[in-house]
Amino acid sequence: MGFGPIVEGSSPSPPAIFEMKIATIILAAGKGTRMKSNLPKVLHKVLGKDILQYPIKALEQYQNNYIVVGHESEKVIETLPENIRYVVQEEQLGTGHAVSIAVNDESFVNEASDYVVVVPGDVPLIRKEDIENLISKVSKSESAVGFLTAEIDNPFGYGRVIKDGDLIQIVEEKDCTDDQRLVKEINSGIYCFNSAFLSQHINQLNTENAQGELYLTDLIGIANLENLDIVIVQVSEESIKGINSMGQLNEVEDLMQKELIQKFMDEGVYFQDPTSTYIDSDVSIASGSKIYANSHLKGNTTIGKNCEIGPNAQINNSTIGDNSKVLNSVIEESVVHENGSIGPFAHIRPGSELGENVKVGAFAETKKSKLGKNSKVPHLAYVGDAELGENVNFSAGAITVNYDGQDKHKTNIEDGAFIGSDVMLVAPITVGKEAFVGAGSVVTKDVPSKALAIERNNQKNIEGYVDRKKKND
Ligand code: UD1
Ligand code: CA
Repeated sequence: MGFGPIVEGSSPSPPAIFEMKIATIILAAGKGTRMKSNLPKVLHKVLGKDILQYPIKALEQYQNNYIVVGHESEKVIETLPENIRYVVQEEQLGTGHAVSIAVNDESFVNEASDYVVVVPGDVPLIRKEDIENLISKVSKSESAVGFLTAEIDNPFGYGRVIKDGDLIQIVEEKDCTDDQRLVKEINSGIYCFNSAFLSQHINQLNTENAQGELYLTDLIGIANLENLDIVIVQVSEESIKGINSMGQLNEVEDLMQKELIQKFMDEGVYFQDPTSTYIDSDVSIASGSKIYANSHLKGNTTIGKNCEIGPNAQINNSTIGDNSKVLNSVIEESVVHENGSIGPFAHIRPGSELGENVKVGAFAETKKSKLGKNSKVPHLAYVGDAELGENVNFSAGAITVNYDGQDKHKTNIEDGAFIGSDVMLVAPITVGKEAFVGAGSVVTKDVPSKALAIERNNQKNIEGYVDRKKKND
């Protein structure tokens, strides 16, 4: 290897990287002091997923994946997929120290890779293609190291890429001279090292800098001093944005949200107001659906074709079938089949399964219940721990009395039954096929099929009562 040209720009070239042995290291031991939060930085969520899950996903195609954990390591370890191995950095002495812990790990040494990709845990916008491109450029040019950079308007806080004739180095914000601070090209913290170069020099870093840390970035200066080739690949500012504070978390989430909504729009989903719409990264929405303002689609939610969602819908971990409508309502961990009509102001709680053409309307709540095809709970009702057959009408003010203060009990309402207004069905209880329950009844015994159950006192009308009362006053 001699001192050769520096490759710039990110023109994609087909990577032949799959013949090489590549190890990856994610750095996630830091506390994230600037977040001012007890939670380890990488466990904050962006679009419903831990920050850390994004770099993990971007690197999943490589063979030997490592992560350096430290601060609150047990909490971070719990969230890791099986194909990633962790090493613990007990004391966080800097990014160079973190990488040395991984590189000196016995299994890392035994696995002898050709290249080592290093990525910070706090850059969720990181792109697979940029990493592939970086590896292929480093390998083709037989360089010691390559890294991603970007030109940004406000480089504050980032390491600056300082080029002076043949000299290249990365200087951290706190170590910059006034002139260096003006440089707008910043280090992304995403590198590809030639493995031999990395293991040869990683233990030679020192702490002679403003923060008294072992800087991984010093390896660039070292490669330069040794006249080894260095590859710099410039990428877009967005794709390397790091999260160090709540403000940056919001910036990154905003960018990712816009990207995701744009993707759905490209696929034929209508959005009335993307600025008030919040969609998690695992949500899917089929074409022809319309998402109205102030809707929140969270977790593992799936929206079918031609649905109308919102305004003001909150749907968590639920599946909504084709042609359904959800207006001003909350749906959690439930399934709504085709042609459902939910709301306004309905609360569909966990474990509800609403069959085709089911309607649950204003101020109605369902929980852990199955409602068969064409059944209706149009207003002011509670259906909990119940199974309703097809074509059941559950009128206003009716409820399943499912809780006796100690245990929950089940209500069964068979096909075609009619539950009148203000009925209490005291569970456990079964209302048979096509039975009727008269309004205002408190029903404590099973109702046979096609019977009428009625439980009320006889009505008494006292004639002339109002006039007599007035006279006496
Ligand atoms: C680092 C780079 C900087 C670059 C920026 C890009 C260094 C010295 N500086 O700065 O040039 O512009 O990233 O985002 O590398 N970590 C550990 N152990 C440690 C210290 C850090 O695992 O002892 C982890 C952190 O958890 C984090 C990552 O390394 O995920 C980067 O650390 P951070 O403190 O955020 O570095 P920056 O100051 O952002
Ligand atoms: Ca950072």
